[in-house]
Amino acid sequence: MEKFKKIPEHIAIIMDGNGRWAKKRNLPRIFGHREGAKSVKEITKACAEIGVKYLTLFAFSTENWKRPDNEIKFLMNLLNDYLKKEEKTLLNNNIKFDTIGDISKLPEKIQKKINRLKKITKNCKRMTLILALNYGARNEITNAVKKISSLVKKGELKISEIDESTISKNLYTAKYPDPDLLIRTSGEVRVSNFLLWQIAYTELYISKVLWPDFRKKELYKAIHEYEKRERRYGGL
Ligand code: FPP
Repeated sequence: MEKFKKIPEHIAIIMDGNGRWAKKRNLPRIFGHREGAKSVKEITKACAEIGVKYLTLFAFSTENWKRPDNEIKFLMNLLNDYLKKEEKTLLNNNIKFDTIGDISKLPEKIQKKINRLKKITKNCKRMTLILALNYGARNEITNAVKKISSLVKKGELKISEIDESTISKNLYTAKYPDPDLLIRTSGEVRVSNFLLWQIAYTELYISKVLWPDFRKKELYKAIHEYEKRERRYGGL
C-alpha cells in the first residue's frame, strides 16, 4: 500500500468535469456523471484505507437546480441508485454516512434512503463520508445567522457571547473539523460556494484531471503534495 508521512484528517472535494469528460468522447453529459459515480466509490474506499477520517464530497449544489430538467433527473436517479447499492460497501468498510445541505428539497424517496443509510451506518468508526446535497455555503451561513439571531431574540444568547465558535456550531458541519485539504478537479480555480467558512486555513489542490478520471493514483498525488505544504495558520 502507498505510504504517506502525513495524512489529512479531513479531505473535501469539488468533483468537477463530468460534462467535459463526456464531451471529449462525443457522449451525452450523463455518461460523465455515471463514470463520475465510479470515482466517488473508488475515492471513498481509498480514503478509508489510508486513514482519512472525514471525506466531504460536493455532489449537488444549490445552484445545480438551474441545469436542464433531464440532467437533474439523471443525477437524482444516480444518487438514488448509489444510496441503494453502496449500503453494503459502507458497512463492510466501516464507513459512517452523513450529509450537509438542505435535503428536504430532494425527492422523498431519496430522503428516505439518506435517512436509512445514516441510521444503519451510525456506529461505523473508520471514516465518515459526508455528501453535500443541495448545499451552498452562503445559504448555510445565512441559516446560521437566522438561528443565532433567534437565540438572541429569545434571550438565550447575549450578543457579547457570539464568537467564531458560535458560527461554526450553527453550520451543517458543526460536528466536524475543518477540512485540511480541498481538492478541485478539472483545472478550474474556483471555490464555487463550497464550505466558505470552513476552508479559511485549508490547503488547496487543483488537479487538471477530470473527475471521472480522478482515481486512487490522483488522490495519492494530491496527498503527496499536501505532505510538502507547511501550514502556519497565520503564524510564523
Ligand atoms: C460536476 O461536473 C459534477 C456535478 C455537478 C455533480 C457531481 C456528481 C457526481 C460525481 C455523480 C454522482 C454522485 C454520487 C454521489 C452518486 P460538471 O457536470 O459540472 O462538469 P463540466 O463542468 O465539465 O460540465
